[in-house]
Amino acid sequence: MKGYDFPGPALELGALVKDDGTADPSSPIRIPLAMMNRHGLVAGATGTGKTKTLQLMAEQLSAQGVPVFLADVKGDLSGMASPGVPSDRTAQRAAEVGQSWAGRACPVEFFSLGGMGEGIPLRATMTAFGPTLLSKVLGLNETQESSLGLVFYFADKHGMPLLDLKDLVAVITYLTETPEVLKGIGGLSSATAGVILRAVVNFQAQGADAFFGEPEFDARDLLRQGPDGRGVVSILELPAVQDRPRLFSTFLMWLLADLFEALPEVGDPDKPKLVFFFDEAHLLFSDASKAFLESITQTVRLIRSKGVGVFLVTQTPKDVPADVLAQLGARVQHALRAFTPQDAKALKATVSTFPESPYDLQRLLTELGIGEAVVTVLSETGAPTPVAWTRLCAPQSLMAPSDPAVVGGVVAASPLLAKYGTAIDRESAYEMLSARLAAPASTDTYGAPPREPEPRRHEEKSVLEGVLGSSAFKSLTRSAASALGREITRSIFGTARRRR
Ligand SMILES: Nc1ncnc2c1ncn2[C@@H]1O[C@H](COP(=O)(O)OP(=O)(O)O)[C@@H](O)[C@H]1O
Ligand SMILES: [Mg+2]
Repeated sequence: MKGYDFPGPALELGALVKDDGTADPSSPIRIPLAMMNRHGLVAGATGTGKTKTLQLMAEQLSAQGVPVFLADVKGDLSGMASPGVPSDRTAQRAAEVGQSWAGRACPVEFFSLGGMGEGIPLRATMTAFGPTLLSKVLGLNETQESSLGLVFYFADKHGMPLLDLKDLVAVITYLTETPEVLKGIGGLSSATAGVILRAVVNFQAQGADAFFGEPEFDARDLLRQGPDGRGVVSILELPAVQDRPRLFSTFLMWLLADLFEALPEVGDPDKPKLVFFFDEAHLLFSDASKAFLESITQTVRLIRSKGVGVFLVTQTPKDVPADVLAQLGARVQHALRAFTPQDAKALKATVSTFPESPYDLQRLLTELGIGEAVVTVLSETGAPTPVAWTRLCAPQSLMAPSDPAVVGGVVAASPLLAKYGTAIDRESAYEMLSARLAAPASTDTYGAPPREPEPRRHEEKSVLEGVLGSSAFKSLTRSAASALGREITRSIFGTARRRR
């Protein structure tokens, strides 16, 4: 088909489907590799082929040396570690679209959130995660969100490392029980602090300690190639936390924000540094605050020039705010349903997001077969390509979960296991505040369980005194910072990078 014959390297999506419903292998539908940092959307109703499309794109990116990150919500992407099994159906599809198909595994790395499930444990420190994302996880309203921001501001300002949830609990408890300090932080009421505290403690009771703390994941570890030059496919296995969508969606956002902070500007490279697939993306936007939505929009807009492509996978484009949608260059729209009036509305809205075309999209979108999609991408010059009814190629890795033994073997052999495998608990705000309590001179009423303080260097002790001595609290503008007390600066998302 005219408009898809790019001279440079490209991903082969499939073949154009003709009006009679047969595919034309002489009309390949493709995405230029150089445009993969211009983002995209894979949409469609359940069971229409979104995950297989994602798998197909990921394995071709890997083959062309581009690392990929993907969130595996249902556990069906672990198959990328195993070669696909030949079948009549696959052979038929391959013949229809002109694909030379052979089963082939990808170089894969498995991650899990906080070690829940099979994979290298992925954790963030509280300080790095920041108040915006944590508010989203906790379901705080906007007043509470800005109050939590003040708690972080207080800790940041005084160089108190918030490594894990118990650090945050310690700081909030301290603030609620020390009215003269709380008063110094304009805008944080003790009632709101109490509400936030209960939310954090509840969250802890649900086992959330596993997700926060050290060693903290460095998102740059996603940018790896195997010895053969293929890009590593990093799969975050989420089935164990499938019922906690707010948790995993904000973690994905943190990874993206961390990448943004860590990577240098590269403009528009020949091929992306990483492509990030955000499955179940609607979970990110549902009940998000205005500030959160603005942060997403800004991150997606800016991360392109760092060479990172973001592909959102969701049911309809309506799930994605217009400002974000406008930045998604590639569209792979699988079939939609039109059962209910809401379906019909979503269908109309979807059609309106496509460029003009000779198709009756309203009808075509409800009639697409499984593993078919309506596609438009950006050409190498950045112009939208003609809308094309496409039958997609079949993935060459396994279209089912890998054998658990395969997954276990990949994890055991990972070079990242030594770095992230074991949780550590360093001295942080909790210990600082506990030590304060344990000190004989202390007269405050802070009631967290005291703990044997770890030996501290002299300058840290003086910081501690600077932070906690009541005179230092009289004015927040007076800096108590010294060696340990360097102020932390926060990014678009309220996240921060720790000095690693
Ligand atoms: N590109 C494809 N090649 C071969 N089979 C496909 C393809 N896309 C979808 N299928 C078939 O359709 C089923 C559902 O696809 P899937 O990607 O899991 O749907 P979704 O993620 O939209 O719910 C797959 O298990 C597979 O059998
Ligand atoms: Mg799916």
